[in-house]
Amino acid sequence: MHDPLLAPMTIGPLSLPNRIVMAPMGQGRAPGGLPDAAYAGFYRRRAEGEIGLIVTGATAIGHPRSSFDDNEPHFHGSPLDTWAGIVEEVHAAGGRIVPQLAHAGLQGLAMNPPTLPGIGPSGVWLPGAQVGAEAGPGREDGQVMTLADIDAVIEAFARAAADAHRVGFDGIEIHAAHGFLIDQFLWSRTNRRSDAYGRDRSRFAAEIVAACRAATHADFPILLRLSQFKMTDYAARLANTPTELAELLAPIVDAGVDLFDCSQRRFFRPEFPDSPLNLAGWVRSLTGKPTIAGGGIGLAKTSLEYGEANIYATKATVALDHLDDVRERLARGEFDLVSLGRAILGDAAWARKLRLGQFDQMEPFEPQISLGLN
Ligand SMILES: Cc1cc2nc3c(=O)[nH]c(=O)nc-3n(C[C@H](O)[C@H](O)[C@H](O)COP(=O)(O)O)c2cc1C
Repeated sequence: MHDPLLAPMTIGPLSLPNRIVMAPMGQGRAPGGLPDAAYAGFYRRRAEGEIGLIVTGATAIGHPRSSFDDNEPHFHGSPLDTWAGIVEEVHAAGGRIVPQLAHAGLQGLAMNPPTLPGIGPSGVWLPGAQVGAEAGPGREDGQVMTLADIDAVIEAFARAAADAHRVGFDGIEIHAAHGFLIDQFLWSRTNRRSDAYGRDRSRFAAEIVAACRAATHADFPILLRLSQFKMTDYAARLANTPTELAELLAPIVDAGVDLFDCSQRRFFRPEFPDSPLNLAGWVRSLTGKPTIAGGGIGLAKTSLEYGEANIYATKATVALDHLDDVRERLARGEFDLVSLGRAILGDAAWARKLRLGQFDQMEPFEPQISLGLN
């Protein structure tokens, strides 16, 4: 049987040679926002390693409060020239790449938090948001966004999308997961607004998608990353039932999103009772849009889960025993693509080795090596 992981797929004008996506992973090597020169080789090696689609780690859009960390790459100003060079190298190696465009809002997990106070839908990030051993002091000093702030952030996302299109990226991914700003609007615990952006928690996300569409092209791929969990609250839920999830996503679909990247800490966990479907499975079935599933793929079951404090310091060994489960779900149409995080940081050639059957040559995620832009 042909391996469903290696089946080609299209997203609008974008042709992917397989179903393997490099999950967005910030590398924190951009002092003052300028990506280190080593980023180009880091992504080129993943393109040479036959990753179907690379999503960059979170990048800060051009709004004064968008960064969550002073070493997060910027996606505005002079760093755009560096990004253009990265795109060129990835394309020359036969790959495809989209930037993850982000606004941190009151996300409070930085090692080197910016000095300006964060902004959010209701100003306060909830207690506990700064748990995590290496985390900074948290962002409990946040300010409530005015309507002018909301307009400015939407405009900054649209400008970043236009810049991504202009410098040759293959699409964009909007970061609406893990407690970042857009997720703070989607979540009832952090969105306590009584205006239109509170009555309709999807409105902010939908307006961002629509503005990115208007700033680019009718068929420029727009991906949006979602998660129920937050970095510091694994039980958090945007939606408790499929009906609630459908209602939350409908305005974002209407706004013109092309694909939902559904982040889970373990891909195989059912999202709601009485069905084996994971988050990507539910989102696909409720919206009709293609989806990406991920979390723990290519890694031993004993490896840590995203959000755990020691994840960046703990080895994760290679395991492929669950790939048949992934293949069956792909073949059934539960979701369309899979994202791998640490597996691809550990081994740039993971996808090529899979195609060639070189399973025993796959390298593990070793923090000392794998977090060094290798
Ligand atoms: C070093 C590192 C940095 C990450 N940075 C981001 C990020 O910038 N944006 C994002 O949406 N997720 C980020 N993640 C989460 C990953 O995209 C992925 O969802 C998570 O690692 C689970 O996948 P895995 O089990 O295959 O590693 C990061 C994960 C790691 C390990």
